[in-house]
Amino acid sequence: MSTEAIPEPIDGDRRAALISTCVVGGAGTVAAAAPFVLSFQPSERAKAAGAPVEADIGGIAPGEMKTFEWQGKPVWVLHRTPEMLESIKKCDDRVADPNSQRTAYPTPTYAKNEYRSIKPDYLVVVGICSHLGCSPKGPFVAGSNPQLGGDEGFVCPCHGSTFDLAGRVFKNKPAPDNLAVPPYKFISDSVVMIGEDTKA
Ligand code: FES
Repeated sequence: MSTEAIPEPIDGDRRAALISTCVVGGAGTVAAAAPFVLSFQPSERAKAAGAPVEADIGGIAPGEMKTFEWQGKPVWVLHRTPEMLESIKKCDDRVADPNSQRTAYPTPTYAKNEYRSIKPDYLVVVGICSHLGCSPKGPFVAGSNPQLGGDEGFVCPCHGSTFDLAGRVFKNKPAPDNLAVPPYKFISDSVVMIGEDTKA
């Protein structure tokens, strides 16, 4: 059982300021490690308004992840291997919200499944921690990160929240919710539209 202290609740204004700071710092870190990949460049004004972004995912090898930018946020696309999908099943009883029932960041209906995705092979999530907005690191393979131990997943360096390869937060961590799934849809086998989905 985790012995990490859970930070005191903070007021809305301070949280917003912290999130802003964390996202800027986190996005910079992501950019340094793996530059945003933009296959489609809407105008700056359109991007600021939240225009959908076409993400070319065809070149992402199994086991690899690329970061795209949507609404100024890093959106991860992780091409999961069968072994990665298996690792998610092993986490079911140790994640806080296995079926994405929480509502701080409502999960779209099409991702309300164990793998939190339209296609099991591809995880599409916003790479911002639901605690105070830092950008988690990863994915880490089993045994390569002490905070994850034998699990695979992501680690938020700010206060130690950990997430599995479906973006589900482990129990007893400061983050109150899973990583957000943005609206998205496949427009071909190799292109995902982030920021727009198909209403059922
Ligand atoms: S921002 Fe606090 S654990 Fe991620």
